[in-house]
Amino acid sequence: MQHRTPLIAGNWKMYKTSSEAMETAAQLIKRVADADTIDIMIAPPYTALESVAAVIKDSCVSLGAQDLFWETEGAYTGQISAEMLVAAGCRYVIIGHSERRQYFGETDETVNKKIKAALRVDLKPVVCVGETEAEREAGQTFSVLDKQVRMGLDKYFIDDLTSLVIAYEPVWAIGTGKTATEEQAQEAHQYIRSLVEELYGNTLSDSIRILYGGSVKPENITGLMARPDIDGALVGGASLDAESFSKIVKFR
Ligand code: 13P
Repeated sequence: MQHRTPLIAGNWKMYKTSSEAMETAAQLIKRVADADTIDIMIAPPYTALESVAAVIKDSCVSLGAQDLFWETEGAYTGQISAEMLVAAGCRYVIIGHSERRQYFGETDETVNKKIKAALRVDLKPVVCVGETEAEREAGQTFSVLDKQVRMGLDKYFIDDLTSLVIAYEPVWAIGTGKTATEEQAQEAHQYIRSLVEELYGNTLSDSIRILYGGSVKPENITGLMARPDIDGALVGGASLDAESFSKIVKFR
C-alpha cells in the first residue's frame, strides 16, 4: 500500500549514555540524509533526549521517547509527562512496550490513558501490542491482539487517532533472533487493520501505520516491507548501531 509513508523507528531501550547517544545519532543522520519518502525515528533513554534533539535538529530523523506518564505534572517521583517530552524535542512516544507490560505493570488501561496524554500535546503514539510464545502456542494470538487493541484504543474519536501508529511486536521475537515469518507478521497486521476498521472505519484503517518489531535486521527488512500490511519497523538491537540501522532505513 504505497499511500502510507513507511516509518522505521529505533528503540534504544536502556542503552547509551547521553554522549554515546549523540555519537550514534550524528553517525546516523549522515548515513540517512539521502533516504527520502520515509519517516525515521529514534527513541533514546530520557537522559539523552535533549542532547540527541540538538544533534538531529534540521535532519530527517525525528525524536521519540520510550514511555510517558499521563499526568501533566505533580508529585509523581520518577515520572515524565507528555509536556516534558515535547519540550525536550520529541515528536513520537512509544507506549505499552512488552517490556513495560512484563516488568513494570503496564496494562491495557494504562496504555489507554497514556495514549490520551500523548494526543493532548500532539505527540504521535507508537502503541505496542503482541502475544507471548505461550499465547501463540495456545492459539490465542488473535484474541490477545483483539483485547490489547480494543482496550488500548477504547473511547477515542476517530479524528484523535489519525497520528496513531501501532507496532506489532510478538514477545517471542524480541531480542531472541527469532523473527516472525513474513506470513506470520502479515497475518497479524492484517488482523489488526481489520480490527481498526471494525472499531473506527476504513478511513482510519486504511491510513494507520502498523509497524513490525522483533529481531528486525538488514537481512530481513526487505521481505517484511514487501507485505501489504507492514508499514515499517520498530527496531531494538539493530538500531543501536548507525550502520545497521541505516541499512534497515534504506531497505528498498
Ligand atoms: P529487537 O529488535 O532487539 O528484537 O527488539 C525489538 C523491540 O522490542 C523494539 O521495540
